[in-house]
Order: sequence, then C-alpha cells, then structure tokens
Amino acid sequence: MPRKSLIAANWKMYKTPAESKAFVEAFLPLVAGHTRDEIALFPSVTSLATVVEAVKGSAIAAGLQNMHFAEEGAYTGETSATMLKAVGATHTLIGHSERRQYFNETDVIVNKKLHTALKHGIIPVVCVGEHLHEREAGLTSDVLCTQLKIAFEGVSAEAATPIVIAYEPVWAIGTGKTATPEMAVEAHKTIRNQVAEILGEEVAEALRILYGGSVKPDNACDLMCQAEIDGALVGGASLKPDSFAAIVKY
Ligand code: 13P
Repeated sequence: MPRKSLIAANWKMYKTPAESKAFVEAFLPLVAGHTRDEIALFPSVTSLATVVEAVKGSAIAAGLQNMHFAEEGAYTGETSATMLKAVGATHTLIGHSERRQYFNETDVIVNKKLHTALKHGIIPVVCVGEHLHEREAGLTSDVLCTQLKIAFEGVSAEAATPIVIAYEPVWAIGTGKTATPEMAVEAHKTIRNQVAEILGEEVAEALRILYGGSVKPDNACDLMCQAEIDGALVGGASLKPDSFAAIVKY
C-alpha cells in the first residue's frame, strides 16, 4: 500500500483565534477537492477549538503542538490528552526541537507522551533531528537512532500504526537553510531502518516520515516528490493560506 502523505502546518506561537479562523476560511477554498494528501493544522492551544470548528465538514485535521503525558494533575500551563480530544482534535506534535531546546523536553519525556497519545487514540507526530554540530561531526545517524530507540521504548508493533515521524534537522528550522533532498532522503532511510529494527519491517514500511525545516512553495516538490518523503511539517511558510496551499499542491 502506498503511504498517503501528510502535510502539516505548525503555527508555533502565532495567530489568535480570530486570525486562525480567518486563515481557515481563506485556505479551505484553495485546497477544495485536494485528496492526494492528508492536511493537518497545529494552532496554538487557545486557537485549537476555533480551528476544529472552522475545518468541520472538510478532511482537514487539527492538533496540539504539545501535550502532557499525565492524565491530569497539578501541571500549570499544560494540556492533557483528554482536553485535546474533548475539543475534537485528533493529532499532537511530540518532541518538537523547540520543546527540546527551550523546555527541556528529553527523549524519555517524548516516550511518555507517545504512550499517552497512543493510549488515547491520538495521532502522534514525533519530531526528531540533529543539531548542526552533530551533523558536522558525522553523528546524524547516531542521534536519530538514539532519539527513536528511546521514543519507541515499550511501544508494540500493533500499537505503533498511527505514529508519524517528522525529521526536522534543527539547523534547517526557521533558518531558510533546507536540507537537500539527498540529505533528507538519507536521514529518512536511517529512520525507516531503525524503526524496522525496533518494530519490524511491516511497521517501518507503513510509517509516514515527514520532512520539516524551511519548507517553502518553491522547494516543496524537490523534497516531497522523493518516494522516501511522506509529507512535510511546515512552520513559517504555513502561516499564510496561499503559501501553505501552494505547498500542499506542490
Ligand atoms: P520552518 O518551516 O519555519 O523552518 O519551521 C519548521 C518547523 O519547525 C515545523 O515544525
């Protein structure tokens, strides 16, 4: 079975509910009838309910950029899986490099969050990727394999079906420096091989691996036309409806 690509917008800390609604209203007609790929929007937590409501009736999904692993509790500022589902969202990002960098999110926390998402039937988009100094030291493969090994600990092949991986080289995020298609393909192959080792060939073959890091309308095809690249996680260029629609329709 060919893998259906997922093209996702990570709006990071941008857009009020009103701005999010205006985006969806402008975006929907631009992608009407587009069925080749799945589309998901990851707004800020305060815009999530608005986005869920605005995309109703379309095939577009909505998710959180971050979710806590605990069921509930005294975790000021955090959002639980139950809260995510209660507003009608279906996806969550886990372990985005900005979470790792600014909020001390470790591979162990990523693993806990992954278990929670799977338990609640939420589609997790697990982000992995190397820093520039790691790439320059020839450590890209080691870094990705370690991140995956820890992230997948205790996850069974049966439970792993919904998981999506996003390969986001940290040096390519928000910098305008995109990985070349060759670099991305090589990293995606490393990821797929590692998942095959952990969970078996079947899971690895079906696994969608997205690329993220300075994806723009003019490089979207170079990247997503590669058989190894099953979609994109887009930051800056997803903030404008026409630009994100151009990426979706690469
Ligand atoms: P940019 O597309 O702005 O580089 O961000 C990528 C990203 O972090 C998506 O999660």
